[in-house]
Amino acid sequence: MLGPVILAASRSDTMRRFISAAPGTKQVVDRFIAGESVDQVVPVVRDAADKGLEVTLDVVGEDITTPEQAAAARDAYLELIGRLKELGLGARAEMSVKLSMFGQALENGHDLALANVRPVVEAAAAIGTTVTLDAEDHTTLDSMFAIHEELRKDFPQTGCVIQSYLFRTEADARRLAAAGSRVRLVKGAYKEPASVAYQSKPEIDKAYVRILKTLMQGEGYPMIGSHDPRLIAIGQELARQAGRKLDEYEFQMLYGIRSEEHVRLAAEGHRMRVYTAYGTDWYGYFMRRLAEKPANLLFFGRSVLTR
Ligand code: FDA
Repeated sequence: MLGPVILAASRSDTMRRFISAAPGTKQVVDRFIAGESVDQVVPVVRDAADKGLEVTLDVVGEDITTPEQAAAARDAYLELIGRLKELGLGARAEMSVKLSMFGQALENGHDLALANVRPVVEAAAAIGTTVTLDAEDHTTLDSMFAIHEELRKDFPQTGCVIQSYLFRTEADARRLAAAGSRVRLVKGAYKEPASVAYQSKPEIDKAYVRILKTLMQGEGYPMIGSHDPRLIAIGQELARQAGRKLDEYEFQMLYGIRSEEHVRLAAEGHRMRVYTAYGTDWYGYFMRRLAEKPANLLFFGRSVLTR
């Protein structure tokens, strides 16, 4: 029951101020956030590369309120891509972006987000890598898929995320499982109503398997975004049944979660990509990680109380 309460708090400015200022917060945030700046995240990318891992980099931030903030988000990604180019790390790192950080919820937000994300996708392509559009709450998805389709006209390798908890996703997966597409399947991390989303773990997991089967049997490139050992084993079996080689799909997990599993899968020859978030606006991202596992909240509470 704690998960929905934490997710509600993730949208509260009062809680944001309280939690951000609490002593001990930083120590827990550091488990999930790889640093505050490009300089701090570069060694993390190198370390991942040394372990045979790839990364997808997320400059944290969402739900911005002015066009200037949206432009700053675009510039933060352009700075990151510039550094990856200088350091020759483009082949190891792709980018993940949240369109709400690029202005999607502002006036004329669809066009604004598209205008801000396009130069990022262009810059990524110029260094031989790509961008995946994260999935946010269900009200944003029609716009996200339309932007994805538009970007793919010039940059067909642009990826997107689909969430197994949503009823709509099986149909989205059938449409997206086409040649050249790159689709990350996750369970879903937002607080969604029963009118649009499964509410129980068994239903969400069963939907995940059905959707993954569609992606594996399709012609695109499935990206299995989960830490769930059962779903990882099922993913391997579905890939085998679909006759996919090891480089025809990949696993993805979040920085700081089940890190030993990242290395184990890579050592087995799988492509393993670590979603690595960094930056200063970590509140929303951090709260979703707390909501996914209530034990994290105990750790957080202990850390704050022992200060
Ligand atoms: P599940 O929640 O069942 O966890 C399985 C096991 O993993 C747990 O038992 C625990 O051991 C470990 N674990 C999972 N979460 C943990 C946590 N926070 N702290 C500690 N341990 C944890 N969502 C979304 O809505 N839009 C998006 O764009 C993305 N993008 C994304 C990218 C990648 C690479 C991943 C892995 C996940 C996302 N997500 C996401 C988040 C996703 O929707 C989901 O909330 C989490 O992955 C948790 O679900 P699992 O599939 O890991 O299973």
